[in-house]
Amino acid sequence: MRAVDVIIHKRDGRELTAEEIDFLVRGIASGEIPDYQIAAWAMAVLWRGMTIRETVRLATSMALSGEQLDLEKWAPGAVDKHSTGGVGDKTTLVVGPIVAACRIPVVKMSGRGLGISGGTIDKWESIPGFRTGLSREEILRQVKEIGLVACGQTAELAPADGRLYALRDVTGTVPSLPLIAASIMSKKLATGARSIVLDVKAGSGAFMETVADASTLARWMVRIGQGAGRRTIALVSGMFQPLGFAVGNALEVREAIETLRGAGPRDFREHCLTVAAAMLQIGGRVPDARMGRALAAEKLDSRDALAKFRALVRAQGGDERACDDLSLLPAAPCRGDLAAEKSGYLAEAHAGKIGLASVRLGAGRAKKGDTIDPAVGIVLKVKVGDKVKKGDPLCEIHAASPEALAQARNELRDAFRIAHEKVKPLPLFYKTIRR
Ligand code: URA
Repeated sequence: MRAVDVIIHKRDGRELTAEEIDFLVRGIASGEIPDYQIAAWAMAVLWRGMTIRETVRLATSMALSGEQLDLEKWAPGAVDKHSTGGVGDKTTLVVGPIVAACRIPVVKMSGRGLGISGGTIDKWESIPGFRTGLSREEILRQVKEIGLVACGQTAELAPADGRLYALRDVTGTVPSLPLIAASIMSKKLATGARSIVLDVKAGSGAFMETVADASTLARWMVRIGQGAGRRTIALVSGMFQPLGFAVGNALEVREAIETLRGAGPRDFREHCLTVAAAMLQIGGRVPDARMGRALAAEKLDSRDALAKFRALVRAQGGDERACDDLSLLPAAPCRGDLAAEKSGYLAEAHAGKIGLASVRLGAGRAKKGDTIDPAVGIVLKVKVGDKVKKGDPLCEIHAASPEALAQARNELRDAFRIAHEKVKPLPLFYKTIRR
């Protein structure tokens, strides 16, 4: 078989065979196929698309291209969760402890933030001392002891996807639905969980800007998961405004701890309960989502989930005193508000623009490998639908210097829109996709 023939077949709109896809993935992983042929193939896929059969095969083949973790053996009954990423998405920090408190093991492998999309590993690491680079043995021991682990993805997980994604990033071939779906699912399949809940975001702060596109991506990912024999469901949720109030690593950890203590923003608590309920249902702990939600709320309100969070922080070397004393988390030296220029109702808090301002403050990375400042970010004071008075704070900016604060204030003016007439709050979720 020759790579050029596989490229020609896709260029001409043919469905690739399983053998052709496996050949390509092997060549990507081993380095035998050069960058220019992989890029040409990715561009052909971008234009011609792939069938669901091809996409399932691509995801499975990429999952098999490297290390296979048998999560089911390490932690029988474990449920995995994946969010397609967004602004202020700190869900894992609360949902992991809730689900683990319900005696469903959670080994959550997360990534670092890139662009406006925050990364859960960066959030965990903003807790002083918290270690995310765990060995297999440490993961195994910890899941046995406390049923909850938060760690980074290894480079050995789906290495073919690592190389393909790096090439897509520089050849304009990221926005291909089958390639995105196969890329995300290859890593989920490689970690080996039998049950997977996907939180697919739609909005200006997400990969997919519309609910229709996010729903299509969600359907494809569910079909890949189910096609590979995993119980998989997807929730399509909104990312038109940030989730909760806080955007920025330590600020989000603070908000997660407040939520675990029974306070925290209403929308964020509700989001966590819905995701946790889906995990409890798919993991077989409860028969339906309504009972899952009630159990999740009980674990939050009894502080059992907070106790699990504390055990996790302790097990991974973090300063658990931060659970009681939030002043032990990193804090920015300069703070200032952005005030509303008129009275009315908040009609928009543009997640994409707020995410970008937060990256410029230093909370995120413009490119891979950039260092981040865990302390900086933005805390919203209002959400879409809230009444605002002229002069009220729309958000509080946490910056490393007065200059960065002034620049963020300028950038953020454009992120908020106030209307005269009443505005309805935005929905948290749009749909659930089971098949
Ligand atoms: N995240 C991934 O892991 N892969 C993509 O292609 C897009 C988002």
